[in-house]
Amino acid sequence: MPVTRGPEDVERLRRYWDEHSRSYDRQMAFLDRRLFGDSRQWVCRRASGHVLEVAVGTGLNLDSYPGDVTITGVDLSPAMLEHAERRAATSGREVTLQVGDAHRLEFPDASFDTVVCTFALCAIPDDRRAVAEMWRVLRPGGRLLLADHVVSTSAPVRLLQRLLEVVTIPVGGENFRRRPIIHLRTQGFEIEEQERFTLGIVERVAARRPGG
Ligand SMILES: C[S@@+](CC[C@H](N)C(=O)[O-])C[C@H]1O[C@@H](n2cnc3c(N)ncnc32)[C@H](O)[C@@H]1O
Repeated sequence: MPVTRGPEDVERLRRYWDEHSRSYDRQMAFLDRRLFGDSRQWVCRRASGHVLEVAVGTGLNLDSYPGDVTITGVDLSPAMLEHAERRAATSGREVTLQVGDAHRLEFPDASFDTVVCTFALCAIPDDRRAVAEMWRVLRPGGRLLLADHVVSTSAPVRLLQRLLEVVTIPVGGENFRRRPIIHLRTQGFEIEEQERFTLGIVERVAARRPGG
């Protein structure tokens, strides 16, 4: 069941990510190398046109996008976005970055060709609502590209994930047993590509909003 959270919970999560912004890239470099493989490149090379990256964090994907896309990134945490701004400036890319909440994206309906979200639906309190918002801002025929850690296909690992969540959910809102693809199907997305690896812990998906 998604947890409905009040403004004080959003503020608490914002503070959590602000505080972790400085160590984030170092921790993520380890996970990218050991667990997530080429998932950032896999996602970004499928992006086209006007791209919205939801929960863009420190902008770790920015360098992996094709040169001809325009990128808008939103994140709850201003401190994470400061890192993303520095990264965008050094890469020479024009990127629009703004503070925003994935539960209520401040964009008109059907305003993007591609929506990207990597390793963040595990951290957004109501992942189903975030997927509904991604659907809303995608034009019919547009693509949703996701990569995330999800519930494992291995029973012992699932037990470990369950134990981890006892600590990680209250501390930083980090979930280990989600499966965003279920919400994509319920929402009406057509799944075009799906890959799952590292004991089923990592899943990446390319899906299309029908129509257009
Ligand atoms: C694990 S980091 C992932 C960052 C980035 N997507 C990446 O691949 O490295 C999770 C990010 O989700 C953001 N976040 C959490 N809840 C959010 C929300 N409701 N709306 C927007 N961003 C949110 C956090 O601020 C943080 O930057």
